[in-house]
Amino acid sequence: MTTNQDLFDDDLDLPDPFAQQRYARLVGLDHIKTRLAKEAELILQPDLLEEWSLRTHQTVLPAVARLAHRPPLIIFAGDVGTGKTTLAETFADAIARRHRIDVRVKRLSLRARGTGAVGEMTRLIGTAFDVILHDARAAGSKRPTILVIDQADALAQSREASQMHHEDRAGVNALIRGISQVATEASGVLVIMCTNRIGALDPAIRRRAAAEFDFSRPDENQRTAILTDLFEGVPLSPSDVKHLVDLTGPGDRGYGHTYSDLVDRVLAATCLAAYPTRPITAELIAEQILICPPTPPFTAQP
Ligand SMILES: Nc1ncnc2c1ncn2[C@@H]1O[C@H](COP(=O)(O)OP(=O)(O)O)[C@@H](O)[C@H]1O
Ligand SMILES: [Mg+2]
Repeated sequence: MTTNQDLFDDDLDLPDPFAQQRYARLVGLDHIKTRLAKEAELILQPDLLEEWSLRTHQTVLPAVARLAHRPPLIIFAGDVGTGKTTLAETFADAIARRHRIDVRVKRLSLRARGTGAVGEMTRLIGTAFDVILHDARAAGSKRPTILVIDQADALAQSREASQMHHEDRAGVNALIRGISQVATEASGVLVIMCTNRIGALDPAIRRRAAAEFDFSRPDENQRTAILTDLFEGVPLSPSDVKHLVDLTGPGDRGYGHTYSDLVDRVLAATCLAAYPTRPITAELIAEQILICPPTPPFTAQP
């Protein structure tokens, strides 16, 4: 028997200082952050759009009603380790602060995929959306909900994939049904799907999305920013930084380090190599970069 607890990981309630910090530390996503904030704000607080229309047009334009009926779905697509999960879980912190409201982030657990028993995934996804709808109705527009479906391709695999199991097709249908239900029956709910394999996501789901954002590995400027930030306090000359930025770039390999390769692996390896007797130097960082090669991009399985 699956309980509601099993369907979701722990809820995150925003605003929250830790979320604020995780959000602020994301580098190179400013263009996404800006557009996302606007899209999400209007989905989570539909009244704002009406107020704007009344203020500027003295009437609620039909366009506002049309916009309000878009499926409240945003897709985050792109390479591993580029900040999709972190952004999905934390971006509403800024919205919560700006509007002085609470926002609840509910994260669908991978366990919701079930064990493959007939009808199980459909039932689990149905139950998950029932919980979301129930919560949303109880909270009204005072406390919007964000449903994060991470590794969404695991649930919403293309129904066109020929080898796809019947059970998975039913799961995709259940997801589409859930999103439509949220669109028509509840306000103040936004679904964010994250995937490293956008090609595997069902086209029917992609078509419904209000927006799709693409995440990629850090370019030269972004690597400069992140390396400078990570090794703040370590004396590095501009040419040291340039060398480290080159070492973490695509080079002959064709792909460079991801954000998480730098933030999680290179940083830790460097500190551990220096500790307990040596200081961190440009040479030491360079050495560790070579020891920690970039994560290969996801490629479709043959
Ligand atoms: N744009 C970024 N700027 C700074 N750190 C990042 C960025 N993207 C990812 N990270 C770091 O890498 C780790 C993994 O990020 P995550 O959000 O799980 O990536 P994804 O979901 O795209 O695989 C986290 O520790 C996060 O802080
Ligand atoms: Mg992720």
